[in-house]
Amino acid sequence: MSPIIELRDVHKAFGDNQVLRGVSLAIAEGETFVLLGRSGSGKTVLLKLIEGLVHPDQGMVALEGHDLETATGRELRELRGLLGIQFQSGALFDSMSVFDNVAFPLRERRLLPTAAAIERRVNETLALVGLADAVEKLPAELSGGMRTRLAFARAYAVRPKILLCDDPTAGLDPILTEAVDEALRIGKRELGATILLVTQSLPTAFELGDRLGLLHEGQLVAVGPPEVFKASPHPAVKAFLHDWLARREDTTGAAPA
Ligand SMILES: Nc1ncnc2c1ncn2[C@@H]1O[C@H](COP(=O)(O)OP(=O)(O)OP(=O)(O)O)[C@@H](O)[C@H]1O
Ligand SMILES: [Mg+2]
Repeated sequence: MSPIIELRDVHKAFGDNQVLRGVSLAIAEGETFVLLGRSGSGKTVLLKLIEGLVHPDQGMVALEGHDLETATGRELRELRGLLGIQFQSGALFDSMSVFDNVAFPLRERRLLPTAAAIERRVNETLALVGLADAVEKLPAELSGGMRTRLAFARAYAVRPKILLCDDPTAGLDPILTEAVDEALRIGKRELGATILLVTQSLPTAFELGDRLGLLHEGQLVAVGPPEVFKASPHPAVKAFLHDWLARREDTTGAAPA
């Protein structure tokens, strides 16, 4: 079976800033791939290439075997329809009820034929993330964790085959981080989505990732399952893991004020 996401020898520069210098990656349907890398290493650029918002200077990006550069307008729209995209702040519509927030992408994209079908899908999706009792509420009436789950419910309403997540736990406290992790587990296990996750949270990466890779100096290194990644002798991976542990000790072992 051809991979659902494929990058082949992708190069991308902005002026003389060579961000990606030959990235190849094939992600299988249903797989969760975690993309790690320091700030500025090109993780967001890589996601934008997959969204078709950034174009490679060289190499190929394909979804379900279709090269995005040669796809027709109609094919591109269909391929984009495979994608669900989740950023940190899920950008909820504050004046809309929980129900309408989740129904929004279904109505806008006319994905279901009747109001009854939309209602069923919204209710199923809210139940999936544990928000069945909050249908009539406004986002402002929800806790932070519930808002996080609502943001994922909106992404999941369209049943995306591929979920792209750009650092969804950045800056979040441990409770909200856990809410994001739980929402990702639901996407993976209940919906069988293929997930490409950029995260700074290594516990999340190791728990959810079927494979991980580090973007370093424009290339993807140490690609493999968590045990393989952790044991990689690559100096950039060792430094990355070492720095992460040091940062964590800073925050968890800090001297009392
Ligand atoms: N549209 C653009 N024009 C010019 N330079 C860009 C553009 N988009 C990204 N870059 C540059 O590409 C490099 C990689 O950026 P990117 O946003 O992918 O980093 P990142 O790995 O996502 O970092 P972070 O972890 O901080 O989000 C940076 O040097 C950035 O300045
Ligand atoms: Mg980024």
